[in-house]
Amino acid sequence: MDEYNDFENGSLIPGQTHSLWIDTTHATDFPPLQRGITVDVAIIGGGIVGVTAAALLKDAGLTVAIIDMSRIIRSVTGHTTAKITSLHGIIYKHLLKRFSEDKVRTYGEANQSAIDKIESIVKSKKIECDFMRTPSFTYTELSENLRTVEAEAEAAQRVGLPASFVETTPLPFDVLGAVRFENQAQFHPRKYLLALASELTGNGGYIFENTRALDIDDGEPCVVFTDKGELMAKEVVLATHFPFYDKGLFFSRLFPHHSYAIGVRVKGDVPDGMHYTEDGKHYAIRNQPGKAGPMLVISGGYHKTGQGGDTMAHYEYLVRHTRERFDVESIDYYWSTEDYDSADMLPFIGLSPRSQHIYLATGFAGWGMTNGTLSAMLISDLILGRENHWASIFSPSRIDPVASGKEFVTENLNVAKQYATGLLTPPSARDLAELAGGEGKKLVINKKEVAAYKDEQGTVYSVSPICTHLACTVNWNNAEKTWDCPCHGSRYNYDGTVIHGPALRDLKKRDPETGEDREV
Ligand SMILES: Cc1cc2nc3c(=O)[nH]c(=O)nc-3n(C[C@H](O)[C@H](O)[C@H](O)COP(=O)(O)OP(=O)(O)OC[C@H]3O[C@@H](n4cnc5c(N)ncnc54)[C@H](O)[C@@H]3O)c2cc1C
Ligand code: FES
Repeated sequence: MDEYNDFENGSLIPGQTHSLWIDTTHATDFPPLQRGITVDVAIIGGGIVGVTAAALLKDAGLTVAIIDMSRIIRSVTGHTTAKITSLHGIIYKHLLKRFSEDKVRTYGEANQSAIDKIESIVKSKKIECDFMRTPSFTYTELSENLRTVEAEAEAAQRVGLPASFVETTPLPFDVLGAVRFENQAQFHPRKYLLALASELTGNGGYIFENTRALDIDDGEPCVVFTDKGELMAKEVVLATHFPFYDKGLFFSRLFPHHSYAIGVRVKGDVPDGMHYTEDGKHYAIRNQPGKAGPMLVISGGYHKTGQGGDTMAHYEYLVRHTRERFDVESIDYYWSTEDYDSADMLPFIGLSPRSQHIYLATGFAGWGMTNGTLSAMLISDLILGRENHWASIFSPSRIDPVASGKEFVTENLNVAKQYATGLLTPPSARDLAELAGGEGKKLVINKKEVAAYKDEQGTVYSVSPICTHLACTVNWNNAEKTWDCPCHGSRYNYDGTVIHGPALRDLKKRDPETGEDREV
């Protein structure tokens, strides 16, 4: 079968989104946690952070176990667009206003090192993952953004990055200007990480899937409590995207954003390079080779998680924006996911606040291929007792009110507003009869709030709309058929099962007739 041609008609069916990366690689089938296992390092979460950290630590001679609540490399990393670059939109200009030049230089250098690290792993392990060096661009088509793009090129040059300002790019449409970074990279993230994972098991290495971590005892040894039993380890890495073991009040320091991606076939050549703009709803373009010829991977439609309204409209925007710029032959893939921004624009990587043996990595702001890789490098150095001069700028314990102040206040006011909106907004339907097949709505049954989804066959799945993290009210995501929390990014399947933290518990099942909670 054609490697990419899974959707012959190319149209988006709600609830049937598929990531190109997942559809073009094999599925994993690791067992759940077995009892009685003790390792040097327990890694909770098998995305780019967890799998890379496990590989580095095992190569250094430690015993490691990854546990994942679902399947590895499917969550955010399975839905990324995998541009490997230290050019993160418009960032250096902003960082220089908040931090010393030395710190900003370190951020750029750490991300550049991550690109080199991925390349050296690909080469030394001979991984076939479509890795290639290519330039990266942040462009604008709008005159009001031109000065910002010029300033970004100047800021990046100032901190020693391979940056220039250019007026032309490989794109088939005109831009007004762009920052260009030389010698960046792209790859197929699952081909890369599945190859790393395949070397992890055996000789003191384990991967356990369908095993949800619920708590950690930061002792000697540490104990990871899961829904399948306990795992003992000297050190624990929280590679869960959002650190559910939240001793640093990260729920108030991380802000989730959701974006959309499509896999597109175009007539004629695909442009080289990776391209990104913060114009409008953000838009990014890269190519991806395949057996049936190259595709374009296009992303954008950025909004706060759970606050996107009609989420089909964001895919429609992406498709429309793409058709205006390319001669589209077919749109074969649709997928979406979320990532967290921090208030000061730097990720949190290192020892968790108020912990002795628990490390975390989060807040990648949509740039987790490099930030996630450098997290694995930094955390493995800390565990192995090696000096790493990136440690202080990324420290999860840092508090810098000047660098974070305005965003911290704005974002937390937004959370308070979402909490209140959830309490005050009237239900979207009066009773279940108003629910069409394939629809999800919130209603009140016998004075109890119910979030109900009716499938095409008429089966109703009814749950409490109250997020099990900190009690905000979830909103329906009609494109993905999920209930998404507008406060801190928890996401639940239509039947209430957690698919993304910080929530650890599923939404309570509610009886569709009486509205009463149902024991499961
Ligand atoms: C649309 C979009 C496009 C992007 N494109 C790019 C790009 O081009 N370049 C780039 O650099 N970055 C990009 N990013 C960002 C990047 O994809 C992410 O930052 C990165 O994949 C995050 O990796 P992770 O390992 O932290 O998380 P994940 O991949 O989500 O891995 C976390 C794992 O932890 C597991 N888990 C969670 N909680 C528990 C628990 N309690 N118990 C057990 N397991 C648990 C999950 O199942 C999951 O497998 C993009 C992001 C978005 C939203
Ligand atoms: S994610 Fe925090 S309240 Fe829902």
